[in-house]
Amino acid sequence: MTEVKRSFNTMAVGDTQAQTFDSLGDTLDKSLLRALRRMGFEYMTPVQQKVLAELPSLSSDCLVQAKTGTGKTAAFLLPAIQNLLQGNQPPKGQVGILVLCPTRELALQIAKECDQITACLPSKLECHTAFGGTARASNLQKFFKGTPTVLVATPGRLDDILSEEAVREKFANLRTVVLDEADRMLDQGFAPAIHKILKRIPPKSDGWQGMCFSATIPAKVDDVAKCVLFPGYTSLSTIDPNEAPTVDKVPQYSITVPHVRHTFGALFALIQNEYKQNPNDFKVIVFGTTANGVGLLHDLFEELLPEFKIFELHSRMSQSTRTRTTEEFKNTSSGILFASDVVGRGMDFPNVGLVIQAGLPSSVEQYIHRVGRTARAGKDGRAVTILFENEAFFVSVHKQLPIQPYPVDIISGLKESQAVVENGFKSVREEAKAKAYQAFLGYNKTYLKKLRLDAKDLVKISNEYAATMGCLEPPLIDKKVVGKMGLKGVPGLRIGSRKAE
Ligand code: CDP
Ligand code: MG
Repeated sequence: MTEVKRSFNTMAVGDTQAQTFDSLGDTLDKSLLRALRRMGFEYMTPVQQKVLAELPSLSSDCLVQAKTGTGKTAAFLLPAIQNLLQGNQPPKGQVGILVLCPTRELALQIAKECDQITACLPSKLECHTAFGGTARASNLQKFFKGTPTVLVATPGRLDDILSEEAVREKFANLRTVVLDEADRMLDQGFAPAIHKILKRIPPKSDGWQGMCFSATIPAKVDDVAKCVLFPGYTSLSTIDPNEAPTVDKVPQYSITVPHVRHTFGALFALIQNEYKQNPNDFKVIVFGTTANGVGLLHDLFEELLPEFKIFELHSRMSQSTRTRTTEEFKNTSSGILFASDVVGRGMDFPNVGLVIQAGLPSSVEQYIHRVGRTARAGKDGRAVTILFENEAFFVSVHKQLPIQPYPVDIISGLKESQAVVENGFKSVREEAKAKAYQAFLGYNKTYLKKLRLDAKDLVKISNEYAATMGCLEPPLIDKKVVGKMGLKGVPGLRIGSRKAE
C-alpha cells in the first residue's frame, strides 16, 4: 500500500497536487474517512479529487472519463453513499444505489469495494449482487431476506428479476444509478437490456441521479448516455484530449509474425524473454480472441511452462470456477492468466506487470482496456500485442496508440519455438483443438474485410492453424454451424458431427 500512496501522492490533478482524503472532513462522513484509511487510501486519485471537488452537488448527474486503474470505483461510490448518509437514505430494505456493470467478476469486485468503504458505518449498509450463472431463486431469497441498500448487477439478471413485482417495489426509492464501463453498457450488446431495466425502475423524472463512468467514452455515447443523464449534466475528464488514451507509463509493443500459426511460437518466445528480463513476481495476463481459443492456449502453455502457475478465465467455465480463479489470480504474486474479454474491462488484479494480446483486439477500446489491466494504482507495466501480417493494420490504423515494434528479435528464433510448441500440442486434447479451430473461424469471419481475406483464404489459414495444432485433418464442423457462420459451400471445410467420430 505504501507504494500506492507514494505514486498517487506525486500525481498532479491539472495544476493541483493530490490531496488527502482526510482534508475532506467537511464533505465525507467520518466513518467513510476511517474506512478509507483502513483500506490504505490516503491520497485521492485525480478522478476522485475531481469528482468530489467539481460535482455541483453529490447528487448531480455526471459523465466521467479517467484512465484505467485510477480509482473510478471509489469515485462513484463515495458521492453516491455520502448522499444517502446526508439524509437521503431510502427506507430500510429499499435499494438506494444501483450499479450496473458488464461482467459478474466486476460486480463482485465493486461490491467488495463498497463493503470496505462502508465497513466503519455505525449501522451496516448492505450491498448485494445480482448476476447470471448463479442460482436465481436463492439469490432472490437473499435479496428479500436482507436489507439491500446497494445493488451491483449485470444487466441480464437484473432485467430478469425486475419482471417480478416484489423486486420492482424494492426500487421505489432509488437515489442513484451508476453505469460503470458506461460505453460498454450502452453499446449494442447491452443497450436492449439497459433500456428494459430503465422502463422497470422509477422514471428518471422521479429525480434519481445518473452517473456514467469509463476510461473510453466515444463521442456517440453522449447521445445514448442521455437516457440516464438529464441535459446540463456535468462532464468531467482527467484525460487531455491530445494524450494517448492508455496509461502513459506503459511501454506498448507489437510483434508481427508472418503467419497466424506463428502466434503460438512467438507467444512462447515472448513469455520466456520477458521472464528473463523480469523474473521477480512475474504476473502476466495473456488475452486471446475467443473463449475456446483461450482454453486452448491455457492447455498448451500448461504443457510448455510447467514451472509457472497457469490460470484460465473465460465464458466457457462455470461461474463458481470463474469466481474462484479470479480470487486466486488477485491474490497470487506471480503466474500467467490466459483470459478472454470477460476480464478485459474493469478488473483490478493487483501487480500485473505485463499484458499480452495474442491476436486482433476486437476494437481500439478493447485494446485500451486490456492494456489497462497493468500499471494500475500508479504501478508500472508493459504491454505487447502479437499479430500476424493481415492483423497488423491494427497498429497503423490506430496511430493515437503509442505502439512500437518489440525491441527484441523474436522472429529469427521462431523456427525453434514453433518446434517446441508443436511438440507441446501432442499432449493437448483433440476436443480442445477442434473447439479452438471452430472459434477461430467464427471470430475471424466477422473481420474478413479488415483482414483483407475472403472466406476461402480464411478456411485455408484456419486449416493451417489446425495443422500446427497437430490435427491430421481439419476438425469436423457441424453443418448448422457452417451455415450460421456463413461459410456454406466454402472449400476446405470438413462437414460432419464430431460426436459421431
Ligand atoms: O475503475 P478504475 O480502473 O479507474 O480503477 P479501480 O479499479 O477503481 O481502482 C484501481 C486501484 O486503485 C484499486 O486497487 C484501488 O484499491 C486503488 N486505489 C484507489 O482506488 N483509490 C486510492 N485513493 C488509492 C488506491
Ligand atoms: Mg473501473
